[in-house]
Amino acid sequence: MALHERGEQMVMSSDFLWGAATSAYQIEGATREDGRGESMWDYFAAIPGKIADGSSGEPADDHYHRVREDVALMRELGLRAYRFSIAWPRIQPAGRGGASTNRAGLDFYDRLVDLLLDNGIRPFATLYHWDLPQALQDRGGWANRDTVERFVEYADTVCYRLGDRVRDWITHNEPWVAAYLGHVTGEHAPGLTRPDLYLRVAHNLLLSHGMAVPVARSHVRGGPAQVGITLNLTPVEPLTAHDEDERAAVIDDGMRNRVFLDPLFKRSYPSDILERLPLLEIETGELDVIAAPIDFLGVNYYNRAIVTMGPNDEPQATLRPDENYERTALGWEVYPRGLYDLLARLKRDYDPPAIYITENGAAFDDEVGPDGAVHDPRRVAYLDGHVEQVARAVADGVPVKGYFAWSLLDNWEWAEGYTKRFGIVYVDYDTQARIIKDSGRWYQRLIAGEGMGV
Ligand code: FCB
Repeated sequence: MALHERGEQMVMSSDFLWGAATSAYQIEGATREDGRGESMWDYFAAIPGKIADGSSGEPADDHYHRVREDVALMRELGLRAYRFSIAWPRIQPAGRGGASTNRAGLDFYDRLVDLLLDNGIRPFATLYHWDLPQALQDRGGWANRDTVERFVEYADTVCYRLGDRVRDWITHNEPWVAAYLGHVTGEHAPGLTRPDLYLRVAHNLLLSHGMAVPVARSHVRGGPAQVGITLNLTPVEPLTAHDEDERAAVIDDGMRNRVFLDPLFKRSYPSDILERLPLLEIETGELDVIAAPIDFLGVNYYNRAIVTMGPNDEPQATLRPDENYERTALGWEVYPRGLYDLLARLKRDYDPPAIYITENGAAFDDEVGPDGAVHDPRRVAYLDGHVEQVARAVADGVPVKGYFAWSLLDNWEWAEGYTKRFGIVYVDYDTQARIIKDSGRWYQRLIAGEGMGV
C-alpha cells in the first residue's frame, strides 16, 4: 500500500516543500550560445572514452530554449519548489568577473526565476553543480587556492542579480563527487587520478562554501535568506561484525561523510582521516570560515555502502551474499531504510537547523509504451519507499523541511551520457518531446494530497 494511502505523509506540515531538481549542464544544452564559455565538462566529454555513449551536454534537454515549456510542466505537476543550478561558464566565460561578466548568461536565470515565481514555484539555486569554467581548470581548478576567490566573486555577481527574488541558495552540490570522482578515480571531470589532491580539493571547495555563505546571505532582499550546502551522504555498514570490517566502515564513513560534515558542523577535520591522507596545510581561521552558520543542510541520498577491509588497509565495497538486493539500472541498491538511518544520525551527531532532501531518485530503463505513456512502477515504488522514510524521520523529530525528486527530466547523466534515465518526466532526445511518466503523475497526486498511490 502506498504511503499516502496509509496517511503517513500527514506528519509533514502543509508548508513542506515538495520539489524536483536538475542541474545546468545536464539539461540546458546551448553550450555555445549567448556568450557562454567552455565548461570543464565540455572539455572532458570531448575526450574519447570518457562518456559511455560518447555524448556531451549538447543538446541535453535543450532546456535553455524550452524553459517556458518546462516551467509549465512543473506547474502541472504542482511542484512547490524547483532546484536548479547556475552554469558558471555562462556568467564568467573566461572564469573572471568584472568587464568580462556575461550579461546574457545572467539574463537567462533572471527569466527562469521570474517564470518560476509567476507560477508559484519557489526557486532553490545551486551555485556550483560541477561545471567549472575550463579557463579555471586550465589554471589548476579546485586544487588551486585562487579558484576559491574566483568562486566567491562569481557567487557575489549571481546572488546580487537574483537575490531580490531568490531566497534559497545552495553553494555546492556534492563536494565529495567533485573531489573524489574528479581527482582520485578520474571518472568525472577534470579526470585526474591524483589521490594526493583529494583533501586539498575538498578543503578548497569547503572554504569557498564558507566564504560564499555570508555573501549570498547579504544579497537576499525581500524575505529571510536560507543558505546551505548539499552533500551526498552514504550510510556505511560493515559486512560483518568482525573488528576489521567495523574499522573499514569507520574509515569509509570518514572518507565520504565525516570529512565534510565535521568541518561544516564541528570546525575540524576528523583526526583518523587526516592520519591517512597527505598533510593538509590550513591557514589560521580557515576552519572558522568553513563552519559559517548555515540555515540548512541539503542531503542527496541514493543508497548505502557495505564495506569490508581490503588489501593495503583500504575499505572495499562489497555485498552480503545472502541478501537479495533490488538494483536500479545503474546497479545501485534500492535501500530506503538507509535514508531514515542517515537522517537520524545527522540529527544525533550534527544537529543541523534544517534539512532538505535535495536529491533522491532512481534510474530505470524507461520506454514509451504502445499507449504513448511511460509506465515506471519501480520508480514509483522507489520514491514512495523513500518518502515514507522521510516521513518516519519527521515523525521522530528530524527537521526535514522539503524533498526534491531527482530528477524533473531525464537528462545527461555525466559519465553515463544519455544512457540512464532518472526523470519523473520522460524526454525523447530525438524530438525533445516531454511525457510525464507514471511516477510524475504519482508525485503530482502526492503533492496535491489526494491520497492515491502505487
Ligand atoms: C548526483 C548528482 C546529480 C545526478 C544524480 C544521479 O550525484 O548530483 O547530478 O547525477 O547523482
